[in-house]
Amino acid sequence: MAETRYRVLLVEDDEISRESIKKVLSQEGFLVFCLADGLAAQELLQGESFHIILSDVQMGATVNSGIELLHYAKRMTNSPVVLMAEFSEVMDESEAMRLGAAGFLTKPIHAEMLIQVVFKICQIENEKIEQEQRLEDQYCKLSIDDFIFGNKFSFGLYIKLSKNKFIKVANAAEDISEERIQSLKQKGIRYLYLEKDDFYSYLKMTLCLGKVLRTEKNIKQEKVLNLMKHTTELFFEQTCFQELDQNLILDAKGIAENAVFFLAQQEKTLDIIYSLNSHCNFLYAHSLGVSLYSVIIARQVGWKSQETLYKVALAGLLHDVGFKEIDADILNKERRSLTPEELKIYESHPTKGASILSKIASIPSDLVQAVLHHHEREGGVGYPQQLSKAMTHPVARLVAVADEFCSLVVKNPNSPGISPKEALSRLMDTQSNLLSLEFLSALSEAFTINRHFLSSQSMAGPIQ
Ligand SMILES: [Fe+2]
Ligand SMILES: [Fe+2]
Repeated sequence: MAETRYRVLLVEDDEISRESIKKVLSQEGFLVFCLADGLAAQELLQGESFHIILSDVQMGATVNSGIELLHYAKRMTNSPVVLMAEFSEVMDESEAMRLGAAGFLTKPIHAEMLIQVVFKICQIENEKIEQEQRLEDQYCKLSIDDFIFGNKFSFGLYIKLSKNKFIKVANAAEDISEERIQSLKQKGIRYLYLEKDDFYSYLKMTLCLGKVLRTEKNIKQEKVLNLMKHTTELFFEQTCFQELDQNLILDAKGIAENAVFFLAQQEKTLDIIYSLNSHCNFLYAHSLGVSLYSVIIARQVGWKSQETLYKVALAGLLHDVGFKEIDADILNKERRSLTPEELKIYESHPTKGASILSKIASIPSDLVQAVLHHHEREGGVGYPQQLSKAMTHPVARLVAVADEFCSLVVKNPNSPGISPKEALSRLMDTQSNLLSLEFLSALSEAFTINRHFLSSQSMAGPIQ
């Protein structure tokens, strides 16, 4: 059996034949999902995808329900369908192929033939999926709502027509007007694509624009928030496929500056976590959340210097940068279900992050320390070095509070996120001897005196 576990949807109303087909395929390592009728299969296909759909032609009282499923699958999913029927039924192989089936099996089905047909089709389908993925990997996706129009770009813009087709909608140096964007939206386009090589230019451009927006007096806060979300998203997409370099760190500083500026301007800063929750990339939302809440805590305890606040924001943004070297399967798994080996890999992320950052000359050494220490805990029970409170960098102790808080409130693959109030009381109950009580109390106070805190004139203003 191949390394990829091929997913098979088996739709068969006859229990005996369903169970025997399932047994044969499962023994060969296929992941088999069974259903007894075509309509239930259509429903399942709205949220799940399979390498192959294996369907009986006639199920229950519905004649041709297998054919209806074939038409549905062709229209909605493009997954290959293999039809199965008795020799005496109307359907034969040539008729099945004419209708667009990927194969046909005559009942009673021989185990060897079944495995051969299913395996071959799954293999072809898998190659197709991998090819589509490779094509998709050449592009970066931008939400059309966040796209900044009215500029001349030095790169082309694409839209995705189908899984394996991207077409260019604007050439390099062409003006992208608001009308043009609106007309694409009206056509149902939700995302624009850039070639990955052009991505960095776009990242730079949005950051420059960020600086312009910060100096505009009447700019809507929502626009600033969108821009900040957008640039941070770009930043994290960038870190996923390129080694960090000095320019990128300068960009991160720009983002941290935007973060600080944003905190100083918003009336409801603490509510922004909810808008971050609408984002699908949980790591991005988590990192941005940790950055923002770290700054909130720092201000609350009276850290006023601009330089320190940027360092804190930057430590929040970069604290989990070591994850970029860890397999996504491990990151998406619930912590308690990790094997000891996987846990060891997971817990290497502070060391990995520190090692990435230490190679960059412009990163101050205390920022590297903060990233390395962010999972150390009071009493020397954290990782990777089991440092005592006195040996742990203060910024790391602060970021640790924001980190634990955001792990609870920002939704992720294993949790829908809980309310800030619930999160605070849970942290107070379970982690008050592990986290800095000073910083934990400061976060809690920030919520209770939110209004006063946010309107304080002593806070940092925009950076010139
Ligand atoms: Fe972490
Ligand atoms: Fe984290």
